[in-house]
Amino acid sequence: MKAASSGLYRLGSEIEAEWVSGVPSVFERAEKSEGPALVFARNFFKNPRMLGSLIPSSRFLVNQLLRNINWEQARVIVEYGPGVGTISGDILKRMRPDATLVVFEINDDFVHHLTTRFNDPRLRVVHRSAADVRAVLSELGLGPADYAISGIPFSMMSESDRQAVVTNTHAALRTGGSFLVYQFSSRVRSYLEELFGQVRQQFELRNILPARLFHCVKR
Ligand SMILES: C[S@@+](CC[C@H](N)C(=O)[O-])C[C@H]1O[C@@H](n2cnc3c(N)ncnc32)[C@H](O)[C@@H]1O
Repeated sequence: MKAASSGLYRLGSEIEAEWVSGVPSVFERAEKSEGPALVFARNFFKNPRMLGSLIPSSRFLVNQLLRNINWEQARVIVEYGPGVGTISGDILKRMRPDATLVVFEINDDFVHHLTTRFNDPRLRVVHRSAADVRAVLSELGLGPADYAISGIPFSMMSESDRQAVVTNTHAALRTGGSFLVYQFSSRVRSYLEELFGQVRQQFELRNILPARLFHCVKR
């Protein structure tokens, strides 16, 4: 794994992942016994722009993100880009027995992994884009969301996709509900400010890569 720690990433306004020869075959050989981290890394090499990161979020990032949630009040939570469920697992541990978590994932492998990894009736795994959040909540007969949590790589998305996710999330939240976004660049901030007004920013350095957390409240 030396290659993975030797300049795989370049930091900047946009993150570019570089192909490192030899690393993919290591993951392919280990495919049969793979755990969540390996499923994640293998998919990164297949589609780096879709994932935006080689490894799942750190414990520190998950904790800082979830500290913003009022678990007593949260009844409907949506999560975009759960990957292998690093954050979803923690949400399920903390959320009320009568709450619902709807996760939106576009990667086939991750959808399969999530449906086999978690056996919890409060979880709905949806194989659709985050941009469909309004339609999906309505199809599931759920009310507006109390919280939307997003780890999708906004800086790698087209302008229209980014706009669709932010606009539909704003519409899908109840008044007073929060949109919690973690990113490695601040590119999405202006889109968030346009719709949500004031955006509070936090940082978590103990993550590969260091992350920005944006907390937006629907007024
Ligand atoms: C950086 S990974 C985050 C994984 C996980 N949440 C974590 O923190 O470890 C980004 C995830 O977003 C997913 N994704 C990208 N675009 C998406 C979209 N439009 N809708 C839903 N998921 C998307 C990718 O497939 C990937 O699982």
